[in-house]
Amino acid sequence: MERGISCKSLATGTCVRVDGTWRGSPGREQAAELAADRVSVLGACASEYAVQKKYHTPEFLRTIPHLRIASRGMPRVLQLRSQLTRLVQEFFTQEEFCQVQAPVITPSDCEGAGEAFGVTSTQEGASSKELFFGRPAYLTVSTQLHLEALAQGVARVWTMSPAFRAEKSQTNRHLAEFTMVEAEAAFVEDVEELMDLVERLVRYVLSKADLPLAHISQHRWPRVSYTDAVDMLAAEPAWTQPVVWGKALASEHEQWLCKRFNGPVFIFNYPRACKPFYMKSNDNAPERETVACFDFLADGLELAGGSLREHRHDQLCASLEAHGIQQLGWYVDLRRFGCPPHGGFGLGFDRLVQWLVGGHIKDVVPFPRSHNSLSL
Ligand code: 4AD
Ligand code: MG
Repeated sequence: MERGISCKSLATGTCVRVDGTWRGSPGREQAAELAADRVSVLGACASEYAVQKKYHTPEFLRTIPHLRIASRGMPRVLQLRSQLTRLVQEFFTQEEFCQVQAPVITPSDCEGAGEAFGVTSTQEGASSKELFFGRPAYLTVSTQLHLEALAQGVARVWTMSPAFRAEKSQTNRHLAEFTMVEAEAAFVEDVEELMDLVERLVRYVLSKADLPLAHISQHRWPRVSYTDAVDMLAAEPAWTQPVVWGKALASEHEQWLCKRFNGPVFIFNYPRACKPFYMKSNDNAPERETVACFDFLADGLELAGGSLREHRHDQLCASLEAHGIQQLGWYVDLRRFGCPPHGGFGLGFDRLVQWLVGGHIKDVVPFPRSHNSLSL
């Protein structure tokens, strides 16, 4: 011990260096202990330090994101994120996907949901001549469209990228900035292949991560068509949100489906009306037209969504027109120059971590951003 320091005087949070001997411990709750010869204070800790040796609620810890790393859960979450990142990369390498980087600044809103953030330079004025890029620019909501271009040359591509959505929803699963794992593969003609890929990916990372996962069944996760899911939901008595064929499923419906199947579930072939312009039509009757897509749900959370892409030129043009989208000439071009059937998916990386550790999405991201919340 340095002269003048007593252990009792060391406040919680003090940064110390301890030199001593690591040895077997007689204590019942630990195998080893450090017998200190010398303790030096490297960084003193002020008495108003907010993280103390007691339980702190997640809500409280969210108010101090810069100090939260000193709480119990956050180091574990960061280690898990790091491990899962490595496993995702390992998986795609084994599956012979090429890792690529896609731009974060883009001229288009991939999902067409009007939830993109604009990008401006701090110097620019309002007229289009003064715009930094000479045209409006946005933060990417998904790298998919760029991956589709690259998959025409490298066949199987994937990326892990930040994605941004100006969604005002204050739920436990939405962030304005999140991390998405996205993959795109050429020569895919059946949405089953994409569900297989997602199932292999998720099972691979679950089987290798340091997690107690007794609850994950070994059987293939159920795959239910949207139409069958709606029939099952409609047979149940009371819903806050009505169950109507053609409408998106509400969170309460997704939760029920996961409970009904007692685990993760794929819902596929949604109505065209509730999905984005790029999904491939199943060419069924217009009043019941569906697209070749799926959502992957676990504990009521949508972990991933994917689809076959409309690779047929005329059908894509009709869909763009129906959605009132004009500026995607380059994307249409891809269909003019030998476009293979293809498809892909996006997996919400933060939602995957949230599913594995439980709780709020803001507690599995070190510096969460959401509507009206950007403290550092
Ligand atoms: O279902 P989404 O919107 O699909 C796409 O963006 C496709 N273009 C992906 C693709 O096919 N390449 O988003 C994919 C996943 C969702 O299933 C969800 O897990 C996550 O991204 N996600 C969010 N996570 C946190 N906060 C948000 N606001 C999210 N929005 C989507
Ligand atoms: Mg989705």
